[in-house]
Amino acid sequence: MTDMETMPRTAPKRVFIKTYGCQMNVYDSDRMADALAPHGYVPTQDAAEADLVLLNTCHIREKASEKVFSELGRLKEIQGERRAMGADMMIGVAGCVAQAEGEEIARRAPVVDLVFGPQAYHRLPDMLEKARGQRHMHPSLKKAVIDTDFPEEDKFAHLPAAKKDVTLARGLTAFLTVQEGCDKFCSFCVVPYTRGAEVSRPVAQVLDEARRLVDAGVKEITLLGQNVNAYHGLDAAGRPVGLGQLAFLLAEIAGLERLRYTTSHPRDMDDALIAAHRDLPLLMPYLHLPVQSGSDRILKAMNRKHTAAEYLALIDKIKKARPDMALSGDFIVGFPGETDQDFEDTLTIIRETGYASAYSFKYSTRPGTPGANLGDQIAEAVKTERLHRLQDLVNQQTADFHASCVGRTLPVLIERVGRQPGQVGGRSPYLQAVHLDGSPDLIGAIHEVEIIGTSTNSLVGRLQQAVAA
Ligand code: SAH
Ligand code: SF4
Ligand code: F3S
Repeated sequence: MTDMETMPRTAPKRVFIKTYGCQMNVYDSDRMADALAPHGYVPTQDAAEADLVLLNTCHIREKASEKVFSELGRLKEIQGERRAMGADMMIGVAGCVAQAEGEEIARRAPVVDLVFGPQAYHRLPDMLEKARGQRHMHPSLKKAVIDTDFPEEDKFAHLPAAKKDVTLARGLTAFLTVQEGCDKFCSFCVVPYTRGAEVSRPVAQVLDEARRLVDAGVKEITLLGQNVNAYHGLDAAGRPVGLGQLAFLLAEIAGLERLRYTTSHPRDMDDALIAAHRDLPLLMPYLHLPVQSGSDRILKAMNRKHTAAEYLALIDKIKKARPDMALSGDFIVGFPGETDQDFEDTLTIIRETGYASAYSFKYSTRPGTPGANLGDQIAEAVKTERLHRLQDLVNQQTADFHASCVGRTLPVLIERVGRQPGQVGGRSPYLQAVHLDGSPDLIGAIHEVEIIGTSTNSLVGRLQQAVAA
C-alpha cells in the first residue's frame, strides 16, 4: 500500500479504544486503530472528544466482564453531553465479552451501536458503515450491528499494517500475535469459546510483520498466543513449523535484539523450544509457564492433562538448558472441591519451583464452562484467605529474586525516560523494570547496567558501558 492510499479520505474523526484483559487484546486494539486509520480515525485518550468509542473487553473472570456494563453507563452520560453540544458518539463493544454475550449486550445496553468478536476486526470499517445507517432510524427500529461469526477468511491477511511512525510511537517493544484460540478446554476457562479453535498464522506472515516492526525501530518482540508454544504455522512448503524453529527464523532478522513469548502451556513445551532457549541469545530467559495448581487431583479436575511432578520435571529440563531461566506462572485458588491439602500442595509447588513473578486469581465461575456445573464451590472467605497466603509467598519470592540480582551487571534495554528527572528506565532480560541515572540518548539500545538496589517492583541500576545497538 502506498502512503497516498492510506491517507485519510475524510476529515479526522477521533476514536477512543479502552482495552481490558490480556496482551492479545492490547495487540488487537492497536490493529483496530490500524484498520480505522485509512478511514480518517485518529486515536484519542479522552472519551469526551471521541466520535467513536470501542471497548475491547475480557470475559475471563466475572469482575472483568462486569466492568463493561459500568463503563457503558458512564459512556451513555458522555454521549448525552456530546449530543447536547451538537456532536455525537458511536459506541462499539469488541473482544471476548462481545464474543460470549453478543446480542445480550445490545439488549442490556441499547446505547451500543455495534458488537463484534475478535475474529471480525478486519470487518470493522464495514460494520461502522452499517451502524451509521442505523443511526437515522427511529429509536424503536434501531438495532445494533452484531458480528460474532468465526469467518473463513484470514483476519490477519485483511488487517492493514501501521505506518512506521505510528509503530515506533507505540514503543521500542512490540507484541505480535502468532497464534490465537485454544483447543485445550481447561474446565474453568472461557477462552476456547471466546477465541475459538487454535489457529497459527503462516510463518511468512509472522516474519513479514516482525521485519516491518524492526524496520520501524522496534528492538524487542513478544510473540503472543493463548497457547503460544502450541504454534504450528505453515512454511512456504506447507510444513508445520513449531515455536522453537520460528524463534530461529526470527533471530535472523538484523536489528531484532530481543525475543519473548507468552502464554505457554506446560504440555506444549517441546524439546525444540527448550533447545532454542539454550542456543539463541536473543530469546530472553524469562518464561511464563502457568501451572494453576500443585494438586494432582485439582489439575485433573481442571483438565490440565499433566501432574505436578511432570511440571517440576519440565522445569528441571528447562533449567538444564538455560540455568538462569526466570519463571513466572498463573494460579487459581478455590477451584471447586479444593481442600486445605490441595491448597498446601499448590504452596509446595510454588516453593519447589521458585518464581520470579506470578499472577494469582480466585476461581470465578464462568457460564458455559464445565467448571460451572461442579458441586462443592468454595466459600468466598476461604478463597480470599488462600489468595492472600499464596500472594505473600509469591511476593517474597519476587523480592528474593530482585535481591539476588543486586551486584550483578545485566543488559538493560533502555526504553524511556524515568519517572524522576535525569533518569531513564528499561527492562532486564528477566523482564524486571530497571531505573538508572542517565541521559535520554541511552534510549533505544541495550546497555550494561550494574544493579545496585531494589525498590518495590523494580531494580535500581548504574550505567556500566554502552553496547553497540
Ligand atoms: N492459556 C493460558 C491461560 C490464559 S487465561 C494457560 O493455559 O495457562 C489467563 C489466566 O487466567 C489463567 O492462567 C488462569 O490462571 C486465569 N483464569 C482463567 N479462567 C479463570 C477463572 N474462571 N477463574 C479464575 N481465574 C481464571
Ligand atoms: Fe484457557 Fe486452558 Fe486454553 Fe489456557 S489452555 S486458554 S487456561 S482453556
Ligand atoms: Fe480475557 Fe479474552 Fe484475553 S477472555 S484474557 S481478553 S483472551
